[in-house]
Amino acid sequence: TGGVTTLDPGYKNTGSCESAITFLNGEEGILRYRGYSIEELADKASFLEVAFLLIFGELPNQEQLSKFAHDIKEQSVVDDDIKKILDAFPKSAHPMGVLSSLTSALTAFNPSSVNVDSEEAMYKTVVKIMGKFPVLVAWTMRKQKGLPLDYGDNSLGYVENVLKMMFKKPNEEYTQNPILVNALDKLLILHADHEQNCSTSTVRIVGSSHAGLFASLSAGISALWGPLHGGANQAVLEMLEAIKEDGGDTKKFMAKAKDKEDPFRLMGFGHRVYKNFDPRAKIIKKAADEVLADLGVEDPVLDIAKGLAAEALSDDYFVKRKLYPNVDFYSGIIYRSMGIPVEMFTVMFALGRLPGWIAQWREMRLRKEPIGRPRQIYIGETHRPFKEISKR
Ligand code: SDX
Repeated sequence: TGGVTTLDPGYKNTGSCESAITFLNGEEGILRYRGYSIEELADKASFLEVAFLLIFGELPNQEQLSKFAHDIKEQSVVDDDIKKILDAFPKSAHPMGVLSSLTSALTAFNPSSVNVDSEEAMYKTVVKIMGKFPVLVAWTMRKQKGLPLDYGDNSLGYVENVLKMMFKKPNEEYTQNPILVNALDKLLILHADHEQNCSTSTVRIVGSSHAGLFASLSAGISALWGPLHGGANQAVLEMLEAIKEDGGDTKKFMAKAKDKEDPFRLMGFGHRVYKNFDPRAKIIKKAADEVLADLGVEDPVLDIAKGLAAEALSDDYFVKRKLYPNVDFYSGIIYRSMGIPVEMFTVMFALGRLPGWIAQWREMRLRKEPIGRPRQIYIGETHRPFKEISKR
């Protein structure tokens, strides 16, 4: 399999795990969901099909997909009091903090969601969060802009209605001219799972104490928020904008990224596992070109991004350290072409990662994994006698 095949029996309580959901090979740039290549899924499947695949293990047939979509729509209503919690946030609140809070608050309004002791109860909880999460995502953005909140149009598809709830354009914009819908669908697929990354490990370890799914997801959203993880897609756009404002001098920023005295890192570059190209970045880069061309948009930051990537490919510091563009490097350019504000980019990452988090949490509970308990190597003081304060 090219991956890890056996783990030290002691791994059981360390947060590492066995999983049958996603396979990735960092050296060869391979990523597969339940055995299907990310390239094929991004090209041929819809986000809802991929969500079903990740969560339940098989691509759905038409009847299963229609039922999944119907059950999700039925569960998309959010308790009205959630709006009061949303109203309590200042406009300056970062959308990831708002989303994490609202996701955790869902438990209060859906107490039965904590019970997943039967397949039926688990399925109910899954479709509840699949239905309500896109609403929270759209409301988080509109609240920040002081715009009215609603549920879009249930006659639209899952991804179409995300854009409808966010931007409220006429349905034809999404059904007759699906450029943005197709681009968002592909982006959500590419972000849907990535085995035991920081936020997924967080969801699994919080869930291993038998905390509910919504509380576990809330913790995962907080982990994803960090600029070294999902927050990188916002940081990439801010970096590209800074380079543009600075006259487009990429060499200056490359030098900063290589300067060990300078905490600045080239955002969107490097990866814990991919020591070759990130297969998702290749697909997103191509999609960015296509979307901007289809929309007739000239975005100078795309050219700056390409310039940076080309420079890094021939720069010894980056080549020696195997630092290549990752999933976050080009995604923001597409989100921006959709009119999504930069502070919402990581929220869009969370929307894509939702089915992966759910799948991993469900797998952990179905396999009855023990509570996560990472161990440590103690490097502190050896035993010493108490010292009275007068002697300190
Ligand atoms: C995601 O894990 C996942 O799967 C995550 C993710 C997912 O789908 O869930 O793929 C999503 O989080 C992608 C990563 C997004 N983050 C960024 O783009 C932030 C910028 N990248 C880095 O901060 C960094 O590359 C990390 C955090 C991604 C990885 O950090 P590591 O593991 O500490 O990097 P490393 O050990 O590979 O570093 C080796 C060397 C170090 O220098 P030396 O000590 O050898 O001199 O490379 C340097 C690092 O300082 N380095 C960078 C760099 N990334 C690593 N130098 C400049 N710019 C960078 N971006």
